[in-house]
Amino acid sequence: MPASMSDSSVQLSTVAVVGLGKIGLPLAVQYARKGYQVIGCDVNEQVVQNLNQGKTHIQEEGELALEIPCLVQQGYLSATTQTTDAVRRANVVVVIVPVLIDAAHTVDFQHIDAATMAIGAGLQSGTLVIYETTLPVGTTSSRLRSLLERTSGLYADQDFYLAYSPERVSSGTVFRDLSQYPKVISGIGRCSTARAAAFYRSVLEAEIITMASTDEAEFVKLIETTYRDVNIALANEFARYADSHGLNVRSAIAAANTQPYSHIHTPGVGVGGHCIPVYPYFLFANPFDEQEDIQEDDMLTLPRKARRINDSMAEYAVQRIERVVGSLSCQSVLILGVAYRGDVRETAFTSARLLQQALLRHGASVYVDDPYFSIGELQAQGYTPLPSGYEHMIDVIILQCNHRAFQNFDFCCASACKVILDGRQALCRKSIEALGIHYITIGDGEYKCSGRIHA
Ligand SMILES: NC(=O)c1ccc[n+]([C@@H]2O[C@H](COP(=O)([O-])OP(=O)(O)OC[C@H]3O[C@@H](n4cnc5c(N)ncnc54)[C@H](O)[C@@H]3O)[C@@H](O)[C@H]2O)c1
Repeated sequence: MPASMSDSSVQLSTVAVVGLGKIGLPLAVQYARKGYQVIGCDVNEQVVQNLNQGKTHIQEEGELALEIPCLVQQGYLSATTQTTDAVRRANVVVVIVPVLIDAAHTVDFQHIDAATMAIGAGLQSGTLVIYETTLPVGTTSSRLRSLLERTSGLYADQDFYLAYSPERVSSGTVFRDLSQYPKVISGIGRCSTARAAAFYRSVLEAEIITMASTDEAEFVKLIETTYRDVNIALANEFARYADSHGLNVRSAIAAANTQPYSHIHTPGVGVGGHCIPVYPYFLFANPFDEQEDIQEDDMLTLPRKARRINDSMAEYAVQRIERVVGSLSCQSVLILGVAYRGDVRETAFTSARLLQQALLRHGASVYVDDPYFSIGELQAQGYTPLPSGYEHMIDVIILQCNHRAFQNFDFCCASACKVILDGRQALCRKSIEALGIHYITIGDGEYKCSGRIHA
């Protein structure tokens, strides 16, 4: 063990941040603000070139455009595609490249494996490596540790420090969240935990929570996100119950949530994004024994069921609409918003996709509108953008995501529209009904009450 391995107060001066995306770039800026020399590493040459010119490719955090030119000019921040070289010069390496799932919901480690091999090739004795990417339980202690040890010839917690700390911030509010959310950490052993804690104390004001193992720290993030998926599934079940009993779920949940132990989320047409509908699948994967999947009968039955409930909401929404207007066969339906949530330009696992599939199964012609994407971008994603001036051809509108711009959508132009399903409880019922359009939401209790209105 080098002398520095037992000393958590050793000066740390250079940080390599691997992955300069929506989260990695703000992290690089946060560390540079604190006086570290930060080398951002990314495989995307354009991202690297932009940063070295003092520009940001991430628009979600307003602070980046203001601070990056200065930090680059003063030499606190630079970027490279040569991760191995940057790691050779760094005392700390923070990894924040994505781990994804494929169409079959299998965890895809290709980006983090590639990043880890590049890091291992440049890893020096005494360097601290921290993974912040959301990971299946056991990934740091097994897969990533052995990849690093194999490629570097060094041993974790003996020659170099290895830790895991889930990144819990949200894109768009990264700096606020970094200052407020406690930082959950764990090293692979005692020395690594102490060194990681010392690093985070030097860059964050937030409380630090130390877990017993990297496995437990990985579990924390999967609990947070799976909780929200299960909570929304429960809200969706309550909404369906409300529909079949002539009750309004929105008022009932709002009243229930006035009791301090009730925190029910909002029902809707589905759950999208790269976290909530994805990380439950990280729990179902079994990295301890790749031959043996975690059996449905054994455990995690509730998260599995929640995933199915939330993904079934698109089909349910279509059935709700058909209850009002009759068969959607040969009817034109406009989906407002393909982004997975309001006011973001991201479509990962968006409910718009499930809605489109459900509507097509029911024989509808499906159009979309989303001000965050060009016509070409919508077409490239397999959608049919509604041509401008064709609103009068639309029979049904579904609000899939609540972009602020949709508050000003001119529903008067949709003169043939019979029903609007407000999938996010975001539109003004009164003004829609004033246009003679039937307004419904998931869980408004009208499933039981309403008769058909179609001509
Ligand atoms: N986006 C969020 O809201 C959010 C919130 C909390 C945590 N996270 C975690 O952060 C991770 C990254 O999210 P993001 O939104 O920043 O992703 P992103 O897609 O915006 O950015 C990822 C970056 O990593 C780069 N990259 C890919 N492979 C690389 C490699 N081998 N070496 C170097 N760079 C590589 C890409 O070029 C890209 O610039 C997520 O997978 C998740 O675990 C994300």
